[in-house]
Amino acid sequence: MATKRILIAYGSRHGATSGIAEEIGSALREDGYEAAVLPAGDVRDVSGYDAVVLGGSVYAGRWHRDASRFARLHAADLGHRPVWMFSSGPVDSSAEQHDLPPVRDVVRHMERLHAREHITFGGSITASTPGWIARYLVRHAAAGDFRNPEQIQDWAHHISAELATRP
Ligand SMILES: Cc1cc2nc3c(=O)[nH]c(=O)nc-3n(C[C@H](O)[C@H](O)[C@H](O)COP(=O)(O)O)c2cc1C
Repeated sequence: MATKRILIAYGSRHGATSGIAEEIGSALREDGYEAAVLPAGDVRDVSGYDAVVLGGSVYAGRWHRDASRFARLHAADLGHRPVWMFSSGPVDSSAEQHDLPPVRDVVRHMERLHAREHITFGGSITASTPGWIARYLVRHAAAGDFRNPEQIQDWAHHISAELATRP
């Protein structure tokens, strides 16, 4: 049987979400899938993939524009494939402690595309994040990297298990 191809597309401003996407890609490869990790804005066609994982960071309560645009642009093809979504946001440990619901944009995309599942992962703002808000948060010790590699890998392995039982 041919190896299943999975696309992990992401919208990321400063690299936190792309790091999560790479982590998902590595875990899926460990499970024997072919995983392509790409910025959502660079993807022209999803027809060569058997499943899609779409992620975006959240800014002021909105999903990253490239992730939303991807969901709209490829709606017809995505409707015929299993789709999972994730968000990267809270700069605290809340996403590790309980399930954080998706923002409104994501709820709409999920409904339209019949996405299987969504998860919110902790986000990251560090001294290398550009912008005055990031600088302010770092200065007031309200920043940090709250991405949990184990939680991300577990979710990716869960996708593998789902694809094996409900392709
Ligand atoms: C100006 C600003 C606004 C933000 N707004 C939100 C928000 O509304 N909700 C949230 O969960 N995280 C928010 N965050 C945190 C980011 O989503 C988090 O840092 C994310 O991991 C950034 O990912 P990226 O580097 O891939 O864009 C905000 C961060 C900044 C700097």
